[in-house]
Amino acid sequence: MIDKNVLTPGQIKLHKSHQFMHSIFSLNPELFHTLLAKKWANLAQDNAYVSQKIQELFACTQEENELLKTEIFGQEYANPVWLAAGFAKEFDGLKTLENMGFGYVVWWTVTRLPQEGNKKPRIQRADNINTLFNWMWLPWSGAEALDKKAKFLKEDWQRPEKMPVWISLGNGNNANTQWENESEEAFATRKWEDLAESLSAMYDHADVFEVNVSCPNVHGGTSNQGLSLDIVLDILQKRNKEEAAKRGIDPKTIVIKISPLTAQSDPSKAEDITLETLEVMTDIAIKYGVKWITATNTSKERNGIANGKILYPNWWMSGAMLANQSLNTVQKLHQILQKKNSDIIINGVGGIGCEWSLEDLSDHGLEMYDEWANTLQIYSWLVAWSVILPVALKKNLAMFKKYNDKHNIPNI
Ligand SMILES: Cc1cc2nc3c(=O)[nH]c(=O)nc-3n(C[C@H](O)[C@H](O)[C@H](O)COP(=O)(O)O)c2cc1C
Repeated sequence: MIDKNVLTPGQIKLHKSHQFMHSIFSLNPELFHTLLAKKWANLAQDNAYVSQKIQELFACTQEENELLKTEIFGQEYANPVWLAAGFAKEFDGLKTLENMGFGYVVWWTVTRLPQEGNKKPRIQRADNINTLFNWMWLPWSGAEALDKKAKFLKEDWQRPEKMPVWISLGNGNNANTQWENESEEAFATRKWEDLAESLSAMYDHADVFEVNVSCPNVHGGTSNQGLSLDIVLDILQKRNKEEAAKRGIDPKTIVIKISPLTAQSDPSKAEDITLETLEVMTDIAIKYGVKWITATNTSKERNGIANGKILYPNWWMSGAMLANQSLNTVQKLHQILQKKNSDIIINGVGGIGCEWSLEDLSDHGLEMYDEWANTLQIYSWLVAWSVILPVALKKNLAMFKKYNDKHNIPNI
């Protein structure tokens, strides 16, 4: 339901045209996604008139903007509504995303070498339950190629002015690596070196690195959770210091992104993490001075899906059906961090949508934000069900902050 008193006629029109386009592309969600993330976002930033219109359409009031301002560890963010990793790719449309009013954007997970990803179709939509399923396998042109492209583009690269850029780092299965023929140990070592190489290649382009240790789409992508996170962070922090020393700057902030907690009765069969793993990971994160944890990535669990119907069993789920699992993870993470007296910031992500009405505070974003998460990231709802989500969510949050003194969102 759209509350006409909250959104402007222009915003409602944008929402409706997004839904119209969405239905046209119902059989090809990836094409729709690409058009939105690349073509539309690029076009919209290249044209001054359209750029201005986008700013107007996604604008909050001055009062709301004041309420939403967030300063974390000395870095200023316009608001706590951020775009999760996967949408922004290869320098596309960053200005448009800034014009859409995101507090920041996390780039698609960068792998060192290029890879094509899985064969299409690799994204499916279940509109009746507002849920996406994907099996992307990180299609990407590679960190080194991208670094070259950035240097070539120079001033043409429309880097956002106010919005810090986070780059997600992950491991890939690329054409040059035959992990099937490697021992687990050799594979693990190469994986970690790969991550460090990606960090070096992308060093000048990021303000913050989000290490995707929960990437379900690649071989061993989630296996850096638990004790091996210690090795990953050790390697990355060393490389971070080396790169910073070369440039005479402070090392960059490193963030980790984790899987949701499993809801399986037998955790040994689960691909998501257990409470025990979460305890281990938080200890390691504290040891290496990680300042943020992003929770959560997608999940393979299908608990709670209507009629027990298993949709795309080997694909990764995001959107509404992930919401409870992510919320539970964020809640437990918050409790663990409090117990350990840690000031690590929690980025809550998973299933955040919007009910359009300021009275309805029951949506998951607000639930997360209310008690447990410090900032929010959105993805599936924005891509599939409403491009206007950032502004609607921000208005909800601003109202919430206005009337809720107890809120834990800091200017830390
Ligand atoms: C098509 C698609 C691509 C994604 N790509 C990435 C990625 O490259 N790196 C990453 O860390 N997460 C990726 N994600 C996960 C999202 O960032 C997010 O954590 C997850 O979808 C849960 O949020 P949501 O329910 O709001 O979509 C992707 C998700 C989708 C649906």
